[in-house]
Amino acid sequence: MSGAIGRARPELAGADPLVRRSEHADFQSNAALALSKRARARPADLAGELSAALGGESLISSVELSGPGFLNITAAADAVWAQVAARLADPRLGVGVPERGRRIVVDYSSPNVAKEMHVGHLRTTIIGDSLARVLGFLGGEVIRQNHLGDWGTQFGMLIQYLEEHPGAAWHQDELSGTDSAVSVLDELYRAARGKFDTDPEFADRARQRVVALQSGEAGTLARWREIVAESEKVFRALYDRLGVLLVPGDSVGESFYNPMLADVLAELVAAGVAVESDGALVIFSEEVTGPDGNPVPLMVRKTDGGYGYDTTDLATIRHRLHDLKADRLLYVTDYRQSLHFRLIFEAARRMGWLTDAAEATHVSYGTVLGPDGRPFKTRAGGTVRLSDLLDEAVARARAVVAEKDPELDEADLDRIAEQAGIGAVKYADLSTSRVKDYTFDTDRMVSFTGNTGVYLQYAHTRIRSILRKAGDPEATVDPTIPLETAERALALELDAYGTTLAEVGETLEPHRLCGYLYALARDFTTFYEACPVLKAEEPVRGNRLALCRLTARTLANGLGLLGISAPERM
Ligand code: ARG
Repeated sequence: MSGAIGRARPELAGADPLVRRSEHADFQSNAALALSKRARARPADLAGELSAALGGESLISSVELSGPGFLNITAAADAVWAQVAARLADPRLGVGVPERGRRIVVDYSSPNVAKEMHVGHLRTTIIGDSLARVLGFLGGEVIRQNHLGDWGTQFGMLIQYLEEHPGAAWHQDELSGTDSAVSVLDELYRAARGKFDTDPEFADRARQRVVALQSGEAGTLARWREIVAESEKVFRALYDRLGVLLVPGDSVGESFYNPMLADVLAELVAAGVAVESDGALVIFSEEVTGPDGNPVPLMVRKTDGGYGYDTTDLATIRHRLHDLKADRLLYVTDYRQSLHFRLIFEAARRMGWLTDAAEATHVSYGTVLGPDGRPFKTRAGGTVRLSDLLDEAVARARAVVAEKDPELDEADLDRIAEQAGIGAVKYADLSTSRVKDYTFDTDRMVSFTGNTGVYLQYAHTRIRSILRKAGDPEATVDPTIPLETAERALALELDAYGTTLAEVGETLEPHRLCGYLYALARDFTTFYEACPVLKAEEPVRGNRLALCRLTARTLANGLGLLGISAPERM
């Protein structure tokens, strides 16, 4: 098509042919409408010229003019079969590498030490992990960063409380269960906070502790390390269960930036970007004003001389741009932090750290709602423990899988239930448009029908079973045989995989991949109902098996990029 534009009108050579999948034909091109002005021609006339120039294309079987200047294009059957063969022969399934050459920092998960990881952290962990996988597959050099909340004044009170209550049991080894340590740390936090708020003398001692921690006093530092390590054990258990990519080396928490803060501050002041205001050091936004009409400030140094979340994020963005030399920065946190990141990006731009050569994005997402449509809480109104949520999803998945296949033995059932349950939680999250609130509904997410992870995993196992019955033959494609309507629809859907992934990489919206896989699974069902595979004669059988194989591989690959496993049977 690109060639045809240049052949018809040399002055337009290289213009985007604007070819999209279409309901009216295989593809539609809008080029004649878009280029008519430049070509000084009526769109319909230009469309006619383009159509004539397309005449010689062997990949195309027919071109029709429609509407004011659309071109409806039907691909030649042998070209479609050749595409299927080419994708099958490629370990990457024909997917390109549009992110190659980009260094992409993905900041995700990032829970707070000594606090319970809540459902919001489940979303950042799942979404961030999928984006890291997709961008990596598209050729990007992905640097994962788990920005743990492991520093700050709250540690003064925690450490002081532990010093004064040496008997308090809070080590994971002293307890059973995977996430009890954070629950206990959470309790420690509450107890320390309570004492801090009611006992001024304790509050003073806690403040002294902060000073001791910041000046690196050995005993205090050791206690702090212990608390962080305990929390990390709990986070790790959750990551292992979720099967996310995060490894200990990805944990680069707030404390990492502590030694850089003084430099960053000096730079901000020297540039005149940070200014004194009532004893604090702030950056007034030039873009955002608050409800009172005054510019919104970023707090660089508090009146008491302390540094907080804002200061750390300024050092963080500088580090990621200057030291890590990233050209794309993603921050996966919930939408309530939008203003924070807007201000951080603005400050980084004013400092010249963030230039047009790089791009910073707050990948925000909505709140997790319970089945009643309200923010997700336990019946008692407390935060829902993540491991409880996962246990429930796995238990439900176990029930539906057992019902579907009563023959499965216990060990297989356990394994498949875990894969299906965890997959269901991830898919339910990823398939909702990220910016929307998302309803955590275990019954719906483990359903074998509808747009669910379980449905897709099951679709994959059905195709794998067909292939096993056929003896898993090497794929051979005969491009000369005719192409049935359902085969064509499936083949063209398979062909759209790379474009879909590239879109996910651009928009950072994994739900597009979910929608694609769901459409693919349905096209497969339509194909399988219309076109017998195992009973067909060669060479038709071979071509249909090739479609089966390519569909199974695309489903497994796509699920993998969502962080979901594709079991062989279920
Ligand atoms: N620890 C924060 C929270 O739990 C998220 C940190 C996100 N990353 C960042 N660079 N600010 O809300």
